[in-house]
Amino acid sequence: MPNAYISGTGFYVPPRVVTNDDLRTQYGIDTTHEWIVQRTGIEERRFADEGVGPADLGALAAEKAIANAGIDKTDLDMIIFATLSPEHCFPGSGVYMQRKLGLCEGTNAKFVPALDVRNQCSGFLYALATASSMVKAGALKHVLVVGAEVHSAALDLSTRGRNIASLFGDGAGAVVVSATEEDRGVRHWKLGADGRFADVLAQRVWDTRKRPFIPVDAAGIGHVEPEMMWAQMEGKLVFKNAVERMMTVLMEACIANNITGADIDLFCFHQANLRINQYIQNALGIPDEKIVHNIQRYGNTTAATIPILLAEAVESGKLKRGMKVACCAFGSGFTWGAAVIDW
Ligand code: ACO
Repeated sequence: MPNAYISGTGFYVPPRVVTNDDLRTQYGIDTTHEWIVQRTGIEERRFADEGVGPADLGALAAEKAIANAGIDKTDLDMIIFATLSPEHCFPGSGVYMQRKLGLCEGTNAKFVPALDVRNQCSGFLYALATASSMVKAGALKHVLVVGAEVHSAALDLSTRGRNIASLFGDGAGAVVVSATEEDRGVRHWKLGADGRFADVLAQRVWDTRKRPFIPVDAAGIGHVEPEMMWAQMEGKLVFKNAVERMMTVLMEACIANNITGADIDLFCFHQANLRINQYIQNALGIPDEKIVHNIQRYGNTTAATIPILLAEAVESGKLKRGMKVACCAFGSGFTWGAAVIDW
């Protein structure tokens, strides 16, 4: 049975920087840099321009991951695309990105399957678990796993929406998961979900239990109330559950690998709130040099946070061959996950 390792990483964030002060001055949100930094650690985020979707950002990240893996696009056997901000209701972003990568063109066209994963902040780890399991089963050799978000299109960028609008940013990260006979790769993953909290953090733009699924006026035009249009979140409940679930799933992943936290060389946590991660870091006694953050610069890029962290860590030389990496995430659903990887 082959092992499944991460053969290439890449990331892309849009160039437009939006600082906390910009939220106040450009969007008129009643907030302050101090409030946001103190509660979340976020100093700035990136917003994509109109016309740019997650498949665009994902394709740019994917190109880098494929190049770094030393393979050709046509070597890919599958695409897994994790996002909570897809271009459309359907189809998923994976097929749009496949088209943008040019995989369906020319004599070498390869119509690989494209799977969309809808597990919000845990989406990348759900996708990584799926990809590595398929590779380890010997079914596939190279799987492109992308996490990409364009949150800025769906944030209530007004004072009404400030508790959520100040948290999120746009970006994409990608990895190629490849088969190898070497003794390395994704050692273990652990995923979980608790649907009792499904409504605690949700964006219910439409409801297919209703007829029609969006209220329609006499002219046949749909109207969406603000509480349906924009994401809703009980922030304190999310915070508390995130801390508990992330610590637990991380320890479960270590136990399953017969290791302790001290054996981990680098921790890459989902970037929802720097305070959540610092709480876990302190509780588990993780030294500063063993953990990476980027929420200060990008905000919460949801499914993209972990692959961006991995790509940045590789690029900066902080993550090297032979190191043991632990990734961990928590998000809407609630859903959560952890993975231990021998790099
Ligand atoms: N600027 C200024 N004031 C604000 C802002 C802001 N950006 N946002 C909220 N406030 C105000 C509120 O209106 C409220 O005012 P009030 O007391 O007059 O009503 C006050 O600040 C306190 O609001 P809370 O929401 O109670 O603030 P809290 O201390 O809980 O911090 C926060 C909010 C930062 C969102 C925190 O709850 C948190 O980080 N929770 C976790 C969120 C998270 O992890 N989400 C990730 C999952 S995302 C995913 O899965 C898609």
